[in-house]
Amino acid sequence: MVAFNFDPQFCRNESEVISKLIVSYLLPQLGYSPDNWHQEVKVADIRLDFLTLVTPVIPFILDQIRPPNIVIEAKHPGQKLDRHNRKLRRYLSKLNARYGLLTNGKELKIYERDADGEVRLKFACQGKEIAAKINDIRAILGKISLSDIQQTVSSEAEQICNSPESDLKNRSTTAEQISNSPPDQTVNVSSETEQISNSLAGDLQNRTTTAIAGNRMEEKSNMKVIAIYHNKGGVGKTTVSVNLAASLSRKGKKVLLIDMDAQANTTFATGLIKFQFEEDDNIIQSYVFHLLESGDFNFIPDIVRRSQGFNTPEIDVIPSHINLIEHQDKLNKIAVSRSRLLVKLKQVRDYYDIVIIDTPPSRDLYAEIPLIAADYLIIPSDLKPFANQGLNNVKNFVKQVNEYREAIARDPLLLMGVLPSKISTNSQFLKHTFPRQKSVISDRHNLPLMESIIYERTPLSNCLSRTKNEGEIEIPDPKSIFDFCDLKSDTSAEQSAEDFEFLAAEVLNKIQ
Ligand SMILES: Nc1ncnc2c1ncn2[C@@H]1O[C@H](COP(=O)(O)OP(=O)(O)OP(=O)(O)O)[C@@H](O)[C@H]1O
Ligand SMILES: [Mg+2]
Repeated sequence: MVAFNFDPQFCRNESEVISKLIVSYLLPQLGYSPDNWHQEVKVADIRLDFLTLVTPVIPFILDQIRPPNIVIEAKHPGQKLDRHNRKLRRYLSKLNARYGLLTNGKELKIYERDADGEVRLKFACQGKEIAAKINDIRAILGKISLSDIQQTVSSEAEQICNSPESDLKNRSTTAEQISNSPPDQTVNVSSETEQISNSLAGDLQNRTTTAIAGNRMEEKSNMKVIAIYHNKGGVGKTTVSVNLAASLSRKGKKVLLIDMDAQANTTFATGLIKFQFEEDDNIIQSYVFHLLESGDFNFIPDIVRRSQGFNTPEIDVIPSHINLIEHQDKLNKIAVSRSRLLVKLKQVRDYYDIVIIDTPPSRDLYAEIPLIAADYLIIPSDLKPFANQGLNNVKNFVKQVNEYREAIARDPLLLMGVLPSKISTNSQFLKHTFPRQKSVISDRHNLPLMESIIYERTPLSNCLSRTKNEGEIEIPDPKSIFDFCDLKSDTSAEQSAEDFEFLAAEVLNKIQ
């Protein structure tokens, strides 16, 4: 072990932070040898300065099952660390890593990600205090401390595996871990993913039968279904649906996103429409209509797809198609088609934590079905006069849906609140107009307002309309606001990602 006291004066630029503080001092002091750490690692679209692995993996594979123990980011001494902690938080979530260390030589901060996926500042000190506090740092990040944690985790995992009812759980956990792993890892990992994703549908169907069989399962299930609805168009329903789903998924929740709108904007936004020509349309054969068409076949595992290049981790999506509109008359004639989504969601209630349903801007069957299936309703609104006047329609519609729910012995829909969406960041507007707009919601419409606000920010619309070139052809390449931030350093995009982190936290809080 190198025994010299670290002095922040050693570091005049980022490469000295790397060589003099991290490689020559911190890593050896914390007990790591070159076998345990990797420098300049690229995982999917993230570039990391350093990561450590208490147990070296050969060949080097990194995914959600084999996460790094510590992610280390070095910065120039002239850069403020606070500018970088948002990105580090995202890296920890993406890589399923527990600790992050951020330093510019003048300061050092350690972040910890807890079991709920929340990232908190665990330790902070000035550069000149690093040597004096090295024992405190070692107690958190030292190789020996982290090996103890790892051993506890693996022996707990072993106990679960040995329990009698573990077989099904085992298979789905592996599938979950692998399908949540970042893309573009190794050939090995992706072929494993393919095999397991193929068996995921079968796995779900097994669970379906078990779930239907016993009421006990129903009591245990915590799956919550949230419809995102307003009958006014363009208020941000789709933008909220897809990014809320992405945010919840990054918090470790198993999320299913359902597109009930024939415009298929959610289907597009999650990267499922990559084709440019009708003859390549691979959605028309199997989408949300097929779920509603029959009670005897076409269950969720048969229709569900994984989003493509949209978010890390990717999410499960039931796509829609422009042809959905053609089928409305037919479905309208079959009364039971109204509750088919509800019934089919019950069959997967032990598999998903949260289901988000994006709805059309209408008051027809395709809006009714999600409101029958949902436990909660979020109403995104730009709070402008037309959207506000539309709230009366929403209230009447919900009343009508609740009559139907009563007829099928289902509790009334719970209103999570009106979510201010596409709200201008102009300071004068926020000071004078916005408070009045908000008071109209509670005073005149007697509706609850959510605490979260989704501000109007350009990256939020840019992230979903991205394209890329594949050969001569330009194809859609939409990203969640989180993956968009990882591609590009942009303060406005990061603020938008924070808006959605806040919304996801509020939603989790309200459904507990
Ligand atoms: N917070 C926001 N900041 C900037 N642009 C936004 C925001 N929310 C939505 N938009 C943009 O506004 C337009 C309408 O948004 P979106 O499609 O989410 O609304 P919608 O309510 O789903 O519409 P529809 O009723 O047609 O389904 C889109 O171009 C979208 O990119
Ligand atoms: Mg929409």
